[in-house]
Amino acid sequence: MKNLIRHLLFLFICVSVLSTASITFGASKDNASNGREIYTPAPKPEPRLNGPLVYGCRPGHPFLYRIPCQGKRPISFDAKELPKGLNLNKETGIISGITPTKGEYQVVLLAKNTKGKSKRNFKIISGDKLALTPHMGWNHWYAHYDRITDKMMREAADVMITSGMADVGYQYVNIDDCWMNAPKNNDPKRVGPLRDENGNMVPNSYFPDMKGLTTFIHDKGLKAGIYTSPGTLTCGGFTGAYQHEEQDARQFAAWGFDFLKYDWCSYGRIAGKDKSLEAYQKPYRQMGTILNSLDRDVVFNLCQYGMGDVWKWGAEIGGHSWRTSGDLGFELDRIFDVALKNSEYRAYSKPGEWNDPDYIQIGWIGNANKMGVPEFSPMPPAMQYAYMSLWCLMASPLIYSGDMSKLDEFTLNVLCNPEVIDVNQDPLGECGQVIQRDKETFIMVKKLSDGSLAVGLFNRSKKESEISADWSELNLKGKRLVRDLWHQKDLGHYNDKFCATVPAQGVVMVKIAKK
Ligand code: GLA
Repeated sequence: MKNLIRHLLFLFICVSVLSTASITFGASKDNASNGREIYTPAPKPEPRLNGPLVYGCRPGHPFLYRIPCQGKRPISFDAKELPKGLNLNKETGIISGITPTKGEYQVVLLAKNTKGKSKRNFKIISGDKLALTPHMGWNHWYAHYDRITDKMMREAADVMITSGMADVGYQYVNIDDCWMNAPKNNDPKRVGPLRDENGNMVPNSYFPDMKGLTTFIHDKGLKAGIYTSPGTLTCGGFTGAYQHEEQDARQFAAWGFDFLKYDWCSYGRIAGKDKSLEAYQKPYRQMGTILNSLDRDVVFNLCQYGMGDVWKWGAEIGGHSWRTSGDLGFELDRIFDVALKNSEYRAYSKPGEWNDPDYIQIGWIGNANKMGVPEFSPMPPAMQYAYMSLWCLMASPLIYSGDMSKLDEFTLNVLCNPEVIDVNQDPLGECGQVIQRDKETFIMVKKLSDGSLAVGLFNRSKKESEISADWSELNLKGKRLVRDLWHQKDLGHYNDKFCATVPAQGVVMVKIAKK
């Protein structure tokens, strides 16, 4: 009885807010037959400029940026106040050249087609910092494991453009482990000399032309990432950088890579019993210093699963992001727990310094336990929206790791909503805070640079649930416009709370406007 009264009271409160209150989400039922509801309307034909509002780079280094823009091509681009040294290709929207001298350059991007036009601010900050917003891109690991080839990398780059992913900001095309030779492997084509007579690393026979590969990626305006380990061998048993760190880093830069994932793995044997902070830091400090001395911007991603509280020192040794935990591929049934844990390190999330809870694994992915071939993700569709919402609210790097050749409409819908991505790329770089939590539900709130709040109402239970975000908990007062970000729809003005019916294992994600 008490429960019934509480329930009725809750419903009453919900319907008594200024506008129509409780909303059941799940607009388009087009894909509903297979349970995969498409939440977000398709992009319109008129141009819509997307992407980060700030961009960090180092003076005198090569510069490359493909302006993310949706809409029907051909689109003609323009960039007002582009600093000297940079050139825009007005047809492709690719800006290239040499990064200008230290300073802040407020550029205005413009895009136009026969249907309309779009305008967006883009501040280039030339200085010491890179990755002023979380990196966005793709990594091969959870799709292709030790089956990766140059051909698949090129295909991924192609699809990043043709699928529209690059038009909402995805730009890194990153190779993970297994591109080098191994001393032994089931596949003889991945076995060969680890280094040449000069000590240079030798890629395996599936990667005949590393420079050609990065050129292919760069020609599309995208960036290329590579992987190695400070140990003698990588996790997959391939050549690592031990005692060749500088030589390898210079080789990566000469090949044209823009991103390095540095994976602890067999370095454990070198560190031995030394569990001191210095021992954890040593290989990363060394590589951070080397990367800093290169004449190329290389984003440095630390992969050591959170040892020694890496979030406390990752930035100081030159890292731009650091994994906060083990491989998420083994914990896909624990997305909510992993995210809640990651959000505990929110104080360490800042522009150029990101907590990394691992990749977005949706669509066609291979089972991590057996390094399997890609299969369609069994994760409930609502949970996939929750997954992406959490990564955006936490300002986590958005690196998709599924089979690019099999991207379907639903998966692309989850990956490519620019309003949701704007939350991830917000210049403040804040990681959302959990303000309300019980066994089944929680709310995560992220402050945005325009004074608004992004709020995720999360329901972990297997039944839909009503969740209410009260203004008192959000430090808000008065009437506010609430916008549903997944459905890209204004819901109206709310006076003292926002409540919604949240799908089982799903999310409702809204933006609450500044006054
Ligand atoms: C570790 C990392 C993964 C992946 C593999 C490659 O497990 O955490 O992200 O890079 O190694 O072997």
